[in-house]
Amino acid sequence: MPLPPSELRYLSSDASIEGVVSNERWLSGLRDSFVDQAAFDAALSAGDVMVYRVASVESANGEGQLHYGLGLLMPGKIGKEYFHTRGHIHAFRPAAEVYICLQGQGLMLLEHESDGSYEVVEMTPDRVIYVPGYTTHQTINTGTEPLTYWGVLSSQAGHDYEFVKVNGFRHLIVEENGKPVVINREDFWK
Ligand SMILES: [Fe+2]
Repeated sequence: MPLPPSELRYLSSDASIEGVVSNERWLSGLRDSFVDQAAFDAALSAGDVMVYRVASVESANGEGQLHYGLGLLMPGKIGKEYFHTRGHIHAFRPAAEVYICLQGQGLMLLEHESDGSYEVVEMTPDRVIYVPGYTTHQTINTGTEPLTYWGVLSSQAGHDYEFVKVNGFRHLIVEENGKPVVINREDFWK
């Protein structure tokens, strides 16, 4: 079974890992992630941009093994909605994850599917976040510089994006009076 090298070099400012190709997500592929479709169309007509990318190290697989990745989420907004990742829940629902923020200012939305509760936690370079199993999670950049972070999780976790596509998040973080606020998604147009 191939294992990753025992050490890899990375650049936190660029969120790149030596020898690892990043997977990029561009605005044009993220229409479903934003509520305000008019603002989305206006932004896209001004030009497609890369919203986030992740360099993932996933060569070790099987029981006890780990996957890890270095993410970079650009600053920006679509109307009142901050740039964010699509978000996901782990395909293997019990799998937890640890996020370690390296740079920038952001939030993580955690929606616990087991009891319907949710949390919004800050992402700053002095914070580490534990995402338990059975939790849909999304990263939001509320700052003015790229938000970079490590994610470390079980190799068995997998990413279920379809769950978010079908069910969506119940909450949304938008800018009001220059600050991020959490609203119920269905209250967006009120
Ligand atoms: Fe995850």
